[in-house]
Amino acid sequence: MLEEGYEEEYEKAVVSYLALNISRTADYSNTFCMWNNAWEFTNHMFARQTLSMLWDYSELNLFSPILSGTWKSMQRQVFRGVESIDVSSAPASVFQLSATSCPYEDNSFDAVFTDPPYYDNVPYSYLSDFFYVWLKRIIGDLYPELFSTPLTPKSKEIVAYTTERTWEEAKVFFEENLKKSFQEIHRVLKPNGITTIVYTHKSTSGWETLINSLLDSGLVITASWPIHTEMKTRLRAQESAALASSIYFVARKTERKETGWFNEVKEEIKRYINEKLERLWEEDISGADYYIAAIGSSIEIFGKYEKVMDYEGNIIRADKLLDFVRDVVTDYAVRQILHNGIAGELSPLTKFYILWRWTYKEERVLFDDARKLAQSAGIDLAKEWNKGFIIKDKEFIRVLGPQERDMKEFEGANELIDALHNVLILWKEGNREEMKKVLADSGWGNKDSFYRVAQAISETLPLESKEKKLLDGFLSGKEKIINEIKDTSQQTRLF
Ligand SMILES: C[S@@+](CC[C@H](N)C(=O)[O-])C[C@H]1O[C@@H](n2cnc3c(N)ncnc32)[C@H](O)[C@@H]1O
Repeated sequence: MLEEGYEEEYEKAVVSYLALNISRTADYSNTFCMWNNAWEFTNHMFARQTLSMLWDYSELNLFSPILSGTWKSMQRQVFRGVESIDVSSAPASVFQLSATSCPYEDNSFDAVFTDPPYYDNVPYSYLSDFFYVWLKRIIGDLYPELFSTPLTPKSKEIVAYTTERTWEEAKVFFEENLKKSFQEIHRVLKPNGITTIVYTHKSTSGWETLINSLLDSGLVITASWPIHTEMKTRLRAQESAALASSIYFVARKTERKETGWFNEVKEEIKRYINEKLERLWEEDISGADYYIAAIGSSIEIFGKYEKVMDYEGNIIRADKLLDFVRDVVTDYAVRQILHNGIAGELSPLTKFYILWRWTYKEERVLFDDARKLAQSAGIDLAKEWNKGFIIKDKEFIRVLGPQERDMKEFEGANELIDALHNVLILWKEGNREEMKKVLADSGWGNKDSFYRVAQAISETLPLESKEKKLLDGFLSGKEKIINEIKDTSQQTRLF
């Protein structure tokens, strides 16, 4: 091109776009590409942000006369990407540097937007190496500053890796560096400047690190909202407790209140979360996202203070805050069921189940203690055991979860817990049609109380519980399921 008289910048752009096409082709043409049975096409390797092991792979014909899966179709997608980031009307400057030390002056930006890594979720640099090794050979000479190392740089990457660190070291590294980046944001923002930070994580330690980093940065969180960011189709049974949303935090560089006293702050948080949880439920935030959204709301209150202390003078950090939020959310979800309007719609057996999970989780319990709990829910234990989910085992009582039930017990059963267990097993098996039929035939599928019970049970159970994972997975698709049941019943009426 240069010999033919094209400008150097133009030549650089064309070669760069062709290199992007090679990247895309590499993603679609390798032995990690699986044949997608449902949609009948070849999945690209990074359909998930990981390298999954495969028994067999599917191969594309890049030069096929049909457009799909060819070099030409890759090019079309690259162009679409390039067009969508067209900055000709508002030129942008792009720099590659670590967020932990930015070469900008203090008080210089009106706003900062950031989407930091989510703890240990994605090993970005390692995954990038897949593309980097090819790009370095194709356009390394055009961008020597970006391709100076044999593989992508790893040491400054803020991810909680355990490849060369212990879990504890990885956590400290992540927290320290995230804190440094947030402190940089605080430094470069103008007074009262605004920043939005996106984050989500399933684990408590993932949240502890974010909260502690935020609290130490000086930024003041003024709002937090969960936004659905994950494609619903991704949330299949094998990823049952996957989160569907991320939390968007809005923060400002402004003054904080001095010391807050934990007892008083707790009351403030409780009031605030209780208000917000109702609204979140109405906006279809459920499953694992429900608790995560509440964490966001709690930071809005907690982060207003320079520090929060108990009366003995101990500074309260994220671990104590998270324990407290867990209790508030569980308490709220259970109270909704047992004490408010929907209590009348529920049978004593359903109330017993929720109370049991709340009090004893999945433990087996001595008969006498179990009897007292049953009495408070209004059931006679001796009449109920060994018929359904209540099992007597010598002097102990156990309450079975869905995965331990016999499917035969569900035939003709109309009890909410039976319907819920049946639905969860069908969901796990991927038997969506049968699941919708059970929901529609039992009448529970259209009732808000059914989903609230599912949410409350989930909140009472520990993160590692199989039952919780099933509940969270099922609930993450709640909105879609309700719509599908509605559509089916409308079609049935039409016929
Ligand atoms: C959640 S992802 C952001 C994804 C982005 N919003 C998008 O849609 O493509 C987090 C990003 O932070 C980058 N990152 C990790 N450590 C960093 C550091 N020290 N400085 C700047 N960026 C870093 C990762 O490489 C990754 O691209």
